[in-house]
Amino acid sequence: MSRYQDEFLRSIESPELFWAEQAGRLPWFTPPQTILRYDDQGHARWYEDGELNLCHAALDHHVEQGRGELAAIHWDSPVTGQKRTLSYGQLLDRVARFAGALRELGVKYGDRVVIYMPMVPEALVAMMACARLGAVHSVVFGGFAPHELAVRIEDAEPRVVVTASCGVEIDRVVPYKPIVDEALARSAHQPAACVVLQRERHEAELGAGDHDWATLEAAAEPAPCVPVKATDPLYILYTSGTTGRPKGVVRDTGGYGVALHYSMEKIYDMAPGEVFFSASDVGWVVGHAYIVYAPLLRGCTTVVYEGKPVRTPDAGAFWRLIADYRVKSFFTAPTAFRAIKKEDPEGEWLSRYDLSCLASLFLAGERLDPPTFHWLQERLDVPVIDHWWQTETGWPVAANLLGLEPMPIKAGSATVPVPGFDVQVLDREGRRAVAQEQGAVVIKEPMPPGCLSGIWRDTERFHSAYMAAFPGYYLTGDGGYVDEEGYVFIMGRTDDVINVAGHRLSTGEMEEVVGAHPAVAECAVIGIQDALKGQVPVGLVILKDGFTGDEASLEVELIERVRQWIGPIACFRQVLVVDRLPKTRSGKILRKLLRNIADGQAYGVPSTIDDPASLESVHDAMRQHDVGASGQARME
Ligand code: COA
Ligand code: AMP
Repeated sequence: MSRYQDEFLRSIESPELFWAEQAGRLPWFTPPQTILRYDDQGHARWYEDGELNLCHAALDHHVEQGRGELAAIHWDSPVTGQKRTLSYGQLLDRVARFAGALRELGVKYGDRVVIYMPMVPEALVAMMACARLGAVHSVVFGGFAPHELAVRIEDAEPRVVVTASCGVEIDRVVPYKPIVDEALARSAHQPAACVVLQRERHEAELGAGDHDWATLEAAAEPAPCVPVKATDPLYILYTSGTTGRPKGVVRDTGGYGVALHYSMEKIYDMAPGEVFFSASDVGWVVGHAYIVYAPLLRGCTTVVYEGKPVRTPDAGAFWRLIADYRVKSFFTAPTAFRAIKKEDPEGEWLSRYDLSCLASLFLAGERLDPPTFHWLQERLDVPVIDHWWQTETGWPVAANLLGLEPMPIKAGSATVPVPGFDVQVLDREGRRAVAQEQGAVVIKEPMPPGCLSGIWRDTERFHSAYMAAFPGYYLTGDGGYVDEEGYVFIMGRTDDVINVAGHRLSTGEMEEVVGAHPAVAECAVIGIQDALKGQVPVGLVILKDGFTGDEASLEVELIERVRQWIGPIACFRQVLVVDRLPKTRSGKILRKLLRNIADGQAYGVPSTIDDPASLESVHDAMRQHDVGASGQARME
């Protein structure tokens, strides 16, 4: 039996024993005796009587072990021309002080803190300061608009909001404080204070209840670590569901720490002192895990990058960072390489840097499309690994485990289930699919440590979204299949979630925003294929009778509306007015059919359609507006 098979079987057949062993990786204050228990919904809870603090495990512990001088963070910001390195000792000092500052503002064990910040070291400082106090952070990605921020503030009810005066995009400075102010004006919940990190590029005006970060930090007494229960929440991270209301995924503390530690060793093959670079954002799950917690828990150096794959300043940015910081393992989303490939098709930038330090490249956030995989594999002398996971799971579900037993790579597959994850494919009736047969990808309980413990203050939604479809199994929302050799192929979402440049977005939410416009009678938003971003949203709207305005102006207005409500990150740039939408006789819009037409595929007229002529009318409208590849679509 291979090392992987042996480890995987042990994890599935004796999960308690397996995860009891792995728990030994963390410096607990009170090591857990109860390893696994199930909650009322049959969902696994790990290490419930253990006590620890993840800030302690990620910082204090390493300093105690003599790693105080080791670099914890290399911050590199081509958009501002700044760079900075913080050692473990320096980072600990800043985190302890900022925790002291938050404590002064009243933040205590169990309180929530919303963090809305760009990619600066202080974002990590704020997150870990919360962990230090036993407070729960909720980081909101900077590309979200005030409305989205407000929704999250109302749901998480933070005692404090931490932000910066601005973020810096390729072509513009984005003032963050007005976004926070507008969000607070819309929110029924008001925090006690707002802390603002002033940045040189654009300073914010501070009002009543606002505090300058630097002043607070300078005056604060360092705060010690507060021991928390392993099952206490470390963070809430909101992610798109099928409705306009984002889901607050709750992550526990102990299980998360154990899982991340395990993954650093067995998946990414990282040892203490080595450098890990994850080019994501702290606002996403990848950032939480592999920019912040996992590298630091493992005693590695993390690279924090405030820039883009291209145009900051060129398509060689990633290669420069890898060479400059001697990165051993690099992680990003495939879309970033599609952007690089577009600007540097022959990979000339790559050959200008010494990449001998690089041992592996990991990709996630969306499926690694075979052309991008081949482009990378032909140019890099290291394994190019696609691995699959989601906000809810918190760490990879399927991967090629380089630190355990590297496997042959198959283009289009995320390789095999990670130990702990009993991944299965079920058909509609809940029967296990045979090899190669597509179906719903599920994970059999117990899910391993590190996965979501629930939806913030919404037990019912947790149950209905994940546990109700197939009792005893967690529903991932992805469709796919497993081949004869156990390789997992994830083919896409089975719900209304789309993936735009590695970012997860809800078409349902966009429909709510567009549909709320007074001129719109009905609308459908679909995700269509895009060569750079994987998918982009397109809106189809039917106008109310009596609309007399200009359709082109309305389209611009609707695009702006989504940008204002959800944010620029939605990339909602195309909307077209149609006379009718194809529906079933029971009134359900035939979205899959619309996607097929937009993607240029052959399509048939389903027997359930209410008005067959509606299909041709939509197809004509798409062709006229040059939507996707609709010009190539043919009715069969
Ligand atoms: N704050 C404010 N605005 C932001 C932002 C932030 N943190 N991040 C993105 N935006 C804005 C962008 O400026 C852009 O605005 P625009 O419409 O005015 O141009 C919009 O949101 C869309 O951004 P993005 O998707 O980043 O598109 P892009 O064309 O600027 O860049 C890529 C394309 C492929 C280079 C970029 O999407 C990318 O780097 N993707 C990698 C994604 C990733 O790492 N995902 C994490 C999952 S692992
Ligand atoms: P998020 O929660 O934002 O991380 O998005 C998770 C979703 O992105 C998953 O449910 C998948 O649909 C998709 N995804 C992430 N990684 C992969 C991958 N390697 N292959 C296929 N789909 C992926």
